[in-house]
Amino acid sequence: MRIIRLVFLSVFLLHGEDFMSTYEYGQMLYNNPRGISCAKCHGEKGEGKYIGQYYKKDKKQKKIILQEIYGVRINDKTLAQIKESVLKNHDIMPTYSLTDKEIKAIYEYLKKIKNS
Ligand code: HEC
Repeated sequence: MRIIRLVFLSVFLLHGEDFMSTYEYGQMLYNNPRGISCAKCHGEKGEGKYIGQYYKKDKKQKKIILQEIYGVRINDKTLAQIKESVLKNHDIMPTYSLTDKEIKAIYEYLKKIKNS
C-alpha cells in the first residue's frame, strides 16, 4: 500500500505540469511572474487600476503638481503589445525576463478571465 502511494506521488510530481491547464499556468504567471505581480498594478483581471499618487515639480508651470499613477487596462491588448511591454524598460513597471511561452500563457489567461 505504501509503495503504491509512493509510486503515485512520484508520477504526480514528475508529470505535475501536465495536470496544470494552460489557464492555471497563465494565472500562476500573471500573479507570480518572477517579480512583482502584474495584478498589483493592472488589477485581478487586467482591467486596470489606480496605483497611487505623488507630488512632482512641473517644469512648464513652475509649480508642484499632484501626479496620479494608473496601471492601465491590459486585458484588451494583443499578444505583441504585451510581449513588447513586458520586455522593455519603463518608469514604473518593472522589466521581466519571461519566455515567449510564459508571455503567451499570461495573454491567454487575460483573454479568458476578462469576461468572467
Ligand atoms: C509596479 C506596477 C506594475 C507592474 C507590477 C506591472 N505593470 Fe504593466 N504597466 C504599469 C504602468 C504604470 C504602465 C503604463 C505606463 C508605462 O508604460 O510605463 C504599464 C503598462 C503595461 C502595458 C502596456 C499597455 C499599453 O497601453 O500599451 C502592458 C501590456 C503591461 N503593462 C503588462 C504587464 C504585465 C503582463 C505585467 C506582469 C508580468 C505587468 N504589466 C506588471 C505598471 C505595472
